[in-house]
Amino acid sequence: MEKKRMEQSSISVLLIEDNPEFAQLVLSWLATSGGEVAFALSWADSLAGGLGEISRGGVDVVLLDLGLPDSDGLGTFAAIQKHAGARGIPIIVLSGSDTESLALQTIQEGAENYLVKGACNAPLLSRALRYAVAKHTAEVASRTRIVGVIGAKGGVGATTIACTLATELRVQTGKRVLLADLDVQAGLVAFMMGVDPPYSFQYAIANSHRLDQSCWNAIVARTPNDLHIAASPAYLGHDDVPAETIRQVIAMVQPFYDWVVLDLGRLNKLSVALLDRTNEVFVVTGTGMAALYEAKRAVGALAKAGLGGERIRLIVNQADQAPTLQQRDMSSIFGIEVYAMVPQDTAELQKALLARKPPAETSALRKQMAEVARRLAGLPKKKNRSPLSQLLSLSERFHKSTAPDRTVGVG
Ligand SMILES: Nc1ncnc2c1ncn2[C@@H]1O[C@H](COP(=O)(O)OP(=O)(O)OP(=O)(O)O)[C@@H](O)[C@H]1O
Ligand SMILES: [Mg+2]
Repeated sequence: MEKKRMEQSSISVLLIEDNPEFAQLVLSWLATSGGEVAFALSWADSLAGGLGEISRGGVDVVLLDLGLPDSDGLGTFAAIQKHAGARGIPIIVLSGSDTESLALQTIQEGAENYLVKGACNAPLLSRALRYAVAKHTAEVASRTRIVGVIGAKGGVGATTIACTLATELRVQTGKRVLLADLDVQAGLVAFMMGVDPPYSFQYAIANSHRLDQSCWNAIVARTPNDLHIAASPAYLGHDDVPAETIRQVIAMVQPFYDWVVLDLGRLNKLSVALLDRTNEVFVVTGTGMAALYEAKRAVGALAKAGLGGERIRLIVNQADQAPTLQQRDMSSIFGIEVYAMVPQDTAELQKALLARKPPAETSALRKQMAEVARRLAGLPKKKNRSPLSQLLSLSERFHKSTAPDRTVGVG
């Protein structure tokens, strides 16, 4: 990760082209046409070499000549598309041929652009590369959903909810999930999840000028089921948190994930500054009067900060006691629906903390958070099967397996 992007923002271009003279020309074009971005060019002179470079990672965009020694025409595009496309890397075809039908076909099959070598020049190529990367980054970022988790007051279980939500988003959706600890006061996420991230978010901030995927991968920890975890910047009480840099870091790493869960701790200058990065905010509260009152104030403050009610999800965590109010009464107090009631699960949480791993999948807490994650992701509710129906289906299966073979007719 050290070898490139030491200066300002740079685009890593892989040129797959067998003609060394043309490769030299592209290199000189890109060296002169930087502007605000610098181009870092790597070169492969065959399809096999190109595929190898893509596998090594760190490529932002591919510039592809279709006529290579080991492949030609559309087949070249299809092979690179299969590899680069799966990694979400845009491809610009740079071809000697200006055959309209070939150009159209590559675009239809997913090429970002088709440039004819003879008509290409430095500004044109530079613009095409910058636009391809910007368009692609925006597309990917708009697919990522960022969920902020805020505690209405200290100790209501915001971190517990953030950890179990991220875990269940990973389990239920199978998508790429990041859990980032942005609680600068507490920073308990890594401890609760039983991981030791090699670096903290602070390292990401210090390296925000060169934060590509390989650099980021070195910063996060991974759970056995590949949930990524970024540790708290751990400013331990200092309030000079560089909110703007943290925002930038989130924007940069957002494209690497489908879901990002942020433990924002409490409502403060930093969490408010990050609100516009979030698609929705979970406000976690307890069932006691003080927690309910704080939650109402937090919801009001969020609305004032420009967060519409449709982006606020109220979670009542019954960590200490059963609620004295019904869910619908709470909804009417807050003026927004209570999104979920989370059951008390002290024994399981203590067991998990001792074992330094998340609560078991079969625990009441995880089951409820699985429902929350599924609802958030728009997945259908899991059928809650009663012991009786499970027994019936078992006996049905037993009968089927012992029944003599028969052919099933139609009608
Ligand atoms: N549903 C629950 N059942 C039982 N205990 C819970 C539950 N949720 C959280 N707890 C416990 O409550 C304590 C506080 O939880 P947690 O650290 O998640 O709260 P927090 O709001 O993040 O606190 P802080 O203000 O320190 O950030 C922990 O010991 C946790 O295990
Ligand atoms: Mg916390």
